[in-house]
Amino acid sequence: MSELKSLLYQKIEEHRPRVANLLQKYGDVKIADVTVSQVLGGMRGIKSLVTDISYLDPNEGIRYRGYTLPEVFEKLPKAKGSEMPYVEGLFFLLLTGEMPTDAQVHEVINDFSNRRILPRYVYEVIDAYPCCSHPMSIFSSAIMTMQRESFFNRKYKTGLNKMDYWDSTYEDALNLIAKLPEIASYIYAKLYRDGKRIQSNPALDFGANFAHMMGKGKPYDDVSRMYFITHADHEGGNVSAHTGHLVASSLSDVYYSTSAMVNGLAGPLHGLANQEVLRWLQDMREKMGGEIPTEAQMKQFVWDTLNSGQVIPGYGHAVLRKTDPRYTIQREFCLKNMPDYELFKYTDLLYKVVPQILLDQGKAKNPWPNVDAQSGIIQWYYGITEFDFYTVLFGVGRSLGVLANIIWDRALGYPLERPKSITTDMLEQLAGVKK
Ligand SMILES: CC(C)(COP(=O)(O)OP(=O)(O)OC[C@H]1O[C@@H](n2cnc3c(N)ncnc32)[C@H](O)[C@@H]1OP(=O)(O)O)[C@@H](O)C(=O)NCCC(=O)NCCS
Repeated sequence: MSELKSLLYQKIEEHRPRVANLLQKYGDVKIADVTVSQVLGGMRGIKSLVTDISYLDPNEGIRYRGYTLPEVFEKLPKAKGSEMPYVEGLFFLLLTGEMPTDAQVHEVINDFSNRRILPRYVYEVIDAYPCCSHPMSIFSSAIMTMQRESFFNRKYKTGLNKMDYWDSTYEDALNLIAKLPEIASYIYAKLYRDGKRIQSNPALDFGANFAHMMGKGKPYDDVSRMYFITHADHEGGNVSAHTGHLVASSLSDVYYSTSAMVNGLAGPLHGLANQEVLRWLQDMREKMGGEIPTEAQMKQFVWDTLNSGQVIPGYGHAVLRKTDPRYTIQREFCLKNMPDYELFKYTDLLYKVVPQILLDQGKAKNPWPNVDAQSGIIQWYYGITEFDFYTVLFGVGRSLGVLANIIWDRALGYPLERPKSITTDMLEQLAGVKK
């Protein structure tokens, strides 16, 4: 058994009694009241999910296993000459809660490398997709196609003990994660590079191998690592993480759950906002004829967008109430590596004007930028200009957190998710509108 798996098993054994104790002795303790506006307002803020993998504080932003993002980037092992840590190290941290050693990270790198080969039929399914399909739809289907490989399903049919669900789910999850860069880069090659596939290099780590298959060298390996790590997890309630957890709660395997998670990510209010930011910026750039807008012109663009009934992509958040640290990490990368880049100047100008405009408009609860406001321009700078593809990158990263969560869901025996719905009549009665 690998060190990652045996450490995980030890952590699971330590954790199970805590959950059992809470359920047996404290099951009736009240956590919170729920208001009418929460029920009608997308369940905002209702504390009804548990995860120990990450926690999102409205003012501080995300912590992975208790570490802030700057700490994660500082403490995780890095390849020689790289600014960004190994993605495999992050997965180790998410799964076990422990900062891995260099040796532990290399064991995961080898493990992923041994699991990375895609079945032939996945390429064929991607090849068979009708033209003009969105890459997220292809990504979701490619994952779905591999459902027949599920180890958990095979085991379940032979009568699997509930305490052992996590083991085959772990194997499925690692098999899937290791293949995602191959799937994503082939979709890219197929849609935008005449199908010219670059074979993976088994000697490279997750980020570097992805960069290689995208036809990029350094520093795009670090861009990929930064991208996958910043997008990996955002606690349990966001649409993609919640969808993955919900579908998995019926004991659907990780292929069904991850494909569903990708479908949730594909909406413009969630992951697709990263492509929308670039679409919006390019539209602005066209109108400006290549010039950098003045502050007054930028304000006008923003107001025009709002006045036409659209949202400002990359701004606002359902939980955060401050600038997203994932935005800040990427901004610092831009300041260091591309300070004079035209599109960076656009995003920096937006950072200057949008929050005050959203405050003046008085609708958005959070006027500050989120992760998507900055990520696309970095891709564009390094030559990945097909912005329809950006949410696939998000999906590769987000899978790390979603799958770590699903393994733990199985380990702790979390049950089928089944909240209760009521009717509008009932709500009116509860509110005292109707007797
Ligand atoms: C992320 C988002 C969906 C959160 O939604 P939410 O929790 O409902 O946000 P709020 O409670 O602040 O919304 C209150 C109002 O402000 C509006 N609002 C929020 N963010 C806005 C933005 N960036 N631009 C314009 N209006 C915005 C909402 O549309 C809503 O308007 P309504 O009352 O007419 O329906 C929202 O901020 C948004 O649409 N942002 C742009 C898309 C984006 O960047 N998504 C990626 C998120 S990581």
